Amino acid sequence: MLDQLPAQSPDALLALIKMYAADPRSDKIDLGVGVYRTDDGATPVFAAIKAAEANLLETQDSKSYLGPEGDVAFVRALVPYVFGADAAYLDRVEGMQTPGGTGAVRLALAVAQKAGVTKVHMGVPSWPNHAQILADVGLETVTFGHADSDGRVDVEAVLAIIDAAAAGEAVLLHGCCHNPTGIDYSPAQWDRIAAAFADSPAIPILDLAYQGLGAGMDDDAYGVRAVVSVVPEALVAYSCDKNFGMYRDRVGALYVLADQAGQLDAIMSNLNALARASWSMPPDHGAAAVRVILSDSAMTKLWLDELTAMRARIASVRAQMAEAGQIGPLDLTALSRENGLFSMLALTKDQIASLREDHAVYMAGSGRINVAGLHSGNIANFIAALKNVAG
Ligand code: LMR
Repeated sequence: MLDQLPAQSPDALLALIKMYAADPRSDKIDLGVGVYRTDDGATPVFAAIKAAEANLLETQDSKSYLGPEGDVAFVRALVPYVFGADAAYLDRVEGMQTPGGTGAVRLALAVAQKAGVTKVHMGVPSWPNHAQILADVGLETVTFGHADSDGRVDVEAVLAIIDAAAAGEAVLLHGCCHNPTGIDYSPAQWDRIAAAFADSPAIPILDLAYQGLGAGMDDDAYGVRAVVSVVPEALVAYSCDKNFGMYRDRVGALYVLADQAGQLDAIMSNLNALARASWSMPPDHGAAAVRVILSDSAMTKLWLDELTAMRARIASVRAQMAEAGQIGPLDLTALSRENGLFSMLALTKDQIASLREDHAVYMAGSGRINVAGLHSGNIANFIAALKNVAG
């Protein structure tokens, strides 16, 4: 029976990691999967995480089961960062731990479907796994253009979608640091999006996977807070994989905003049942380390300082790329207007293949680059390679 299964092509981004690893060229450049890198090209464990792990080693006295909701103190400790400490609606918010942001998106879509959502609107391009999860959950996906052809966010497109959406529909938006374009809504645009959601029966599903890697922890949560403060119901998928550097430890959370606080127990019981049938319980270690950090002011400061340094380096790389100006049809000045780890370069498939084969530059087939993969040791080579293939 299993022999009837048609072979699936590997996930393109994950396949890129293997291709890069297998390339023997010493000057190869990895701009593929979204991990932060230092100016030495490394992705070290945060010092704050090392401190929290040392604390866990000393103090953790059991690895017994917690439950499908995972580490509740971790989930609650993140709330002020995601929603702000004083939000008036916090009594209507509850959350649970998930295996990474992917687990949170998956659970959000599954519970939305269980509640009657049949159709999800998604701006494109998007993180490729959004479409894969939607298809796997079995929800109809309707796409709209996230940005204009001139590389500016198309806010009218999303407003039109929200205005026209009916009950039983959801709109999936990136909270900040749009993956793959880096093109985000401004605060004024988020205010318009929030007002549109307030008048719409559609439920917002907000994916906040890069908080702190754009403009700052609070600024990056502007959109989520603007929307959640005016709608009756929302789902917020959160990832700590990037802003705590916990990638392989899979640290995420899903938050629900209920219309009435008294509805939360029933909603959470559904999330618990879905999680139990999917992964039973999320992996503990990473979330426990994040909880240790957030419950200690010195560790919290250490973490926030590390995040600030990451953000500054990303901004500096973006500024250096923008200085290269125009390379053929590529307008690199756009990178200084974009946020987070990613930007898209309007390269053809052949140019992307030539960058990989002739210049050992690895990027997603969509033209997405991980800006943090650039550093003082490779940025000149990358710009030279771009001039060679596109100039
Ligand atoms: C990415 O887009 O590179 C990251 O979100 C990693 C992933 O899981 O795809």
